[in-house]
Amino acid sequence: MKSAAPALDLQLDRTLALPMYLQICQRFKTAIEQGNLRAGDRVPAVRALATELNLARGTVEMAYRILTDEGYLQVRGAAGTVVSPELPPPASLQPATVLPGPARAVNVDHDGKPPKPLQMGLPALDAFPRKVWNRLVAHRLRGSEPARLAYPDPAGYARLRERIATYLGVSRGVNCRPEQVFITTGLRNTLEMTLSSLATAGDGFWFEDPGYIFARMFLQHAALDMVPVPVDEHGLMVDAGKQLRPHARFAMVTPSHQSPLGVTLSLERRMALLEWAGQNGSWIIEDDYDSEFRYQGRPLPALKSLDRNDRVIYSGTFSKSMFPGLRLAYVVAPVSAVASFQAASSNLNAGCPYLFQAAIADFIADGHFSRHLKKMRLLYAERRALTSRVFQEVLGDRIRFDLQPGGLHILAKLAAHEDDVRLAEQIRSAGLAMHPLSRWYLNAAPQPGLLLGFANVPDEKEATRLALKVRQALA
Ligand SMILES: Cc1ncc(COP(=O)(O)O)c(C=O)c1O
Repeated sequence: MKSAAPALDLQLDRTLALPMYLQICQRFKTAIEQGNLRAGDRVPAVRALATELNLARGTVEMAYRILTDEGYLQVRGAAGTVVSPELPPPASLQPATVLPGPARAVNVDHDGKPPKPLQMGLPALDAFPRKVWNRLVAHRLRGSEPARLAYPDPAGYARLRERIATYLGVSRGVNCRPEQVFITTGLRNTLEMTLSSLATAGDGFWFEDPGYIFARMFLQHAALDMVPVPVDEHGLMVDAGKQLRPHARFAMVTPSHQSPLGVTLSLERRMALLEWAGQNGSWIIEDDYDSEFRYQGRPLPALKSLDRNDRVIYSGTFSKSMFPGLRLAYVVAPVSAVASFQAASSNLNAGCPYLFQAAIADFIADGHFSRHLKKMRLLYAERRALTSRVFQEVLGDRIRFDLQPGGLHILAKLAAHEDDVRLAEQIRSAGLAMHPLSRWYLNAAPQPGLLLGFANVPDEKEATRLALKVRQALA
């Protein structure tokens, strides 16, 4: 006969309004759903559990009666009480799947059409060193041997993985081996690989509220229990997350430049998040998408650089540091999860095309990457200052910029009574793309605002033309 599963966590919270017997029921159900208690496992005797939890026997008896009536437990007289053998295997023992869901239209402009002015999320497309890039790609193309026409390594091109590991060590304070670096086709592929490696269906998943709309849409179609966690001026409110779902298996954060508010996760919150993950065995997904661009002080080290317990999955991308049409990004797997990522990488997409990976490796090795980033930092600082100044002058009291130290977009806050969705639609009808902030919220009370990308606003003349168009659209 099986004995009671050791992984049963019955820590009860006496400060909650929920009665103790219901808390016990809930804990048993969670343990069963998570597969910690399985069909046929014997549960502790009433008297033993009451003593352990310092509760009256009647309280535990009541909980067991409810669980028996609901079919979770079976009483077997002298043989004790067991988890019902008739229970179907828990969903959590099946790997998390990405369920096909109905496509929902979100105006975020990733549609293959030429970008609109002010579109968020784009680096300066006019300033990318295309000549150098074309030369490097052509060189690789000319020199490619027949062997390169075979299947690529699904984990990524080895030289690129090495370059990324070195870059992350030097620039982001992330110590990792090339074997931990996996090349993906972007954030969603990174999430797919992460979930496929580490998640089981029904896992609690803290998600910033407001948070990155594309990640949210992807995750909402995965079999996860999404937990929106509010964000304030110090970033993700870790304490709120702990109250909402203390045992969530994942937390996803944008610590360097919160998407969309732009705030930085404070050191105190970073430490609290890491401590929570360490104690709980949870995973933190650090989405470090545009941290290369910071206009005050030096770029902050990544959260991963503080990760002493191997809990952080680091996600980076070439979409901002180079250009998004590449569709190449990377994820650093925790040391303990490298084998799972390795398996997931070959199960999911059999790798990314060799040619561009090799050309990026050359771009980095020849020093173009760091030169480009350095130039872009200066250019973006100028374009950001210019755009915010001109828009403020032209739009006056209607908007208030909340300028944060980094990133490629800025937030124009609106008065509380303004309907940002309607205004964004009017702006869109005028051929420009600003995004309504309220759409990025899940549960938290939405603040009205307009998000705009400044990286492709080349000069004062164009900034003025765009600002006047916006003013006209808002009139
Ligand atoms: C918050 C956030 N994370 C990640 C990314 C990068 O996504 P990808 O690598 O798929 O282009 C973006 C791009 O806009 C973003 O805004």
